[in-house]
Amino acid sequence: NNYLVIMAGGIGSRFWPFSRNDKPKQFLDILGIGKSLIQLTFERFTSLCPPENVLVVTNAEYADLVAEQLPALSSEQILLEPFRRNTAPCIAYAAYKIQEQNPDAVMIVAPSDHVILNTDLFIKTVSTAVEQAADQEKLITIGINPNRPETGFGYIQYLENTGNDLKKVKTFTEKPEKSLAEKFIESGDFVWNSGIFVWGVRAIITGFHQHLPEVAATFDEIRADLGTSHENDSIYNAYSHTANISIDYGIMEKSSDVYVVLGDFDWSDLGSWDALYDMSEKNEDGNVVKANALLYDTTGSLITGPKDQLILVQGLDDYLVTVCDNVFLVCKRGDEKRFRDYVADVKEKK
Ligand code: GDD
Ligand code: MG
Repeated sequence: NNYLVIMAGGIGSRFWPFSRNDKPKQFLDILGIGKSLIQLTFERFTSLCPPENVLVVTNAEYADLVAEQLPALSSEQILLEPFRRNTAPCIAYAAYKIQEQNPDAVMIVAPSDHVILNTDLFIKTVSTAVEQAADQEKLITIGINPNRPETGFGYIQYLENTGNDLKKVKTFTEKPEKSLAEKFIESGDFVWNSGIFVWGVRAIITGFHQHLPEVAATFDEIRADLGTSHENDSIYNAYSHTANISIDYGIMEKSSDVYVVLGDFDWSDLGSWDALYDMSEKNEDGNVVKANALLYDTTGSLITGPKDQLILVQGLDDYLVTVCDNVFLVCKRGDEKRFRDYVADVKEKK
């Protein structure tokens, strides 16, 4: 009954120039261990879900990359999106597909670009959520203990005393302003949304009908075409007019059926250069060096580059220096929100 949906259509612009439009970070061996993040994601769930019940939803331009990196999947298991519409349509597409096969299915939805250590604990946590989701009523997310007022995440406040394993969610706030994130952290009442969701297909399709009725109507209309030779055309039409919205803003913030299972495993949305810096081992000057580099009077910096490129740095504090293909980037660490603008500017300059 368990299905796994891996969402792999994002661009990862805050990791530019390492993460590129034509090869975003989920397809890269960011940890330098010979496996890409999407391959690690697929492996992580093998004990919870048989390989034939795995779906990957991605942009059509990454079809070959997915097929190459996950050879265990047949082409029917790779759902291709003609346009980027964020995670709500991506999840709707997968949910409607799965419902055709198995109306009682429980669906685990996972991002493709996270780093998770201690897999055993992770599996235990997700299993708890899978058991609880079998009633086809709850929308469950895995919560993570926060350690900084990060503004790129969802924040969850839950009701105490609503069960040991599963807590009812009181508020879900996606990507708060800095000042609000700081308040949340100070209060000690909040956990981060890990972006890993578990729910019955009926529960999430009900959620679409309640909170994103246009998206539900769009997919209701093409439901009969799924699995037929009309699927691609219908999906193209559906995606040309469906809303561009994340599941977090579209459903999780609004629904009163949201629950959280608290996770205690090491988790990182390796979302940006800063996240990579934070999770990496630092030398005595607080530098993270993943390059052939010589550093002088330099602290708190992240230096990356290919082995055949010598990088010499002097006098920088808290900088990112990276050489990546044909791009050489030097910038202050911590300003990663501006990366989206940089990437847009670079596109314009091309
Ligand atoms: N198929 C598909 N199509 N996948 C997509 C799309 C899309 O249009 N857009 C994003 N994705 C994939 C990304 O590749 C990633 O694996 C996952 O969906 C989540 O998207 P992000 O863009 O990385 O979301 P986020 O990090 O800003 O926010 C989400 O994750 C946080 C934790 O990492 C939210 O769920 C937050 O609430 C959460 O805290
Ligand atoms: Mg992310």
